[in-house]
Amino acid sequence: MAGHLQAALRSSGKGATAAERFGILERPDLAYTPAVARETAPFYEKVRHFIPEIEWPVHAPYVHAINRLKKERNAVILAHNYQTPEIYNCVADIVGDSLQLARDATTVDAEIIVQCGVHFMAETSKLLNPQKTVLIPDGRAGCSLSESITGEDVRELKRRYPGVPVVTYVNTSADVKAETDICCTSANAVDVVESLASDTVLCIPDEYLAMNVARRTNKKILTWAGHCEVHERFTADELLAYKEADPSIEIVAHPECHPSVLDVSDFSGSTAGMINYVKTKRPARVLLVTECSMASNIQSEVKDVEFVKPCNLCPHMKRITLPKILDSLLFMTEEVTVDPAIAAPARLAVERMINLKA
Ligand code: 13P
Ligand code: SF4
Repeated sequence: MAGHLQAALRSSGKGATAAERFGILERPDLAYTPAVARETAPFYEKVRHFIPEIEWPVHAPYVHAINRLKKERNAVILAHNYQTPEIYNCVADIVGDSLQLARDATTVDAEIIVQCGVHFMAETSKLLNPQKTVLIPDGRAGCSLSESITGEDVRELKRRYPGVPVVTYVNTSADVKAETDICCTSANAVDVVESLASDTVLCIPDEYLAMNVARRTNKKILTWAGHCEVHERFTADELLAYKEADPSIEIVAHPECHPSVLDVSDFSGSTAGMINYVKTKRPARVLLVTECSMASNIQSEVKDVEFVKPCNLCPHMKRITLPKILDSLLFMTEEVTVDPAIAAPARLAVERMINLKA
């Protein structure tokens, strides 16, 4: 394989790193040449509302190199709806909410998955694709919900509430999923809870998601005090002030927000549900009560919609950048692995969710 610094050490032996199995590639020239400008021009059209023309020569060589390397590596990029516009629109092969990404991860043909999102998402892809190589461009991309609970915490809850089924949000580590009966996402949490025979259900670790689910089921919901650090910052008063200033504005909120926020919203759904609402309803002005990259990501597809943006960014999602994605593909870093003893029960919990017929 031309361009390899290291002769490809395709030792498929146990313990070989991804770099050893696939080899390391030389860093490409990142000049903004006329060819790069020409080939990346269609991508720029999708992000021109967000990236000033003068800045495009910084991004374009990365977009060009990443798209070329994906083919060379037989890699696919899965990106969450909160990734930056240049990732979402210019290098991602598959975009979506947590449920869509988990489902699509099961249908990927490529040998390598580069997960542009946070660590629990990459772990979920690995659980569903144990034979594939899963990379995350920055393994420090965590999540306040995932960090709020450990496997031992769930074992303690199970001791305290024997026989009560455990529904775990996908925003958790594999260790936590391994202690779980079934996973859920914000898109299917009510359906998952309703699918269980028990009258009482542990719905962890997102307290607000659990409170929002509890309002839509007759089951008793027990929860945990985990919160999303992005969504917990929104308040009903803040949103009412927007409504007062412009009564025509539509408010669309994510269910990780406090129930009082959903009370003053016109619609609530997962990130994919929110996008679908905007694309189909075409509100003249809308406020997406969620991570603020999402509005920028879809702006080019809904030019007639004006987004009002109280800009709450997720610092974990924002750890993923074009230069880090390029390094990931060049150096095959950072490889995501899951202890096989944990992977088996964790996979079962995710698969039960994916196979659930809503
Ligand atoms: P969804 O995309 O599944 O709605 O989740 C939002 C989220 O916070 C992921 O980190
Ligand atoms: Fe976690 Fe919230 Fe960031 Fe999503 S937005 S990754 S739930 S901290």
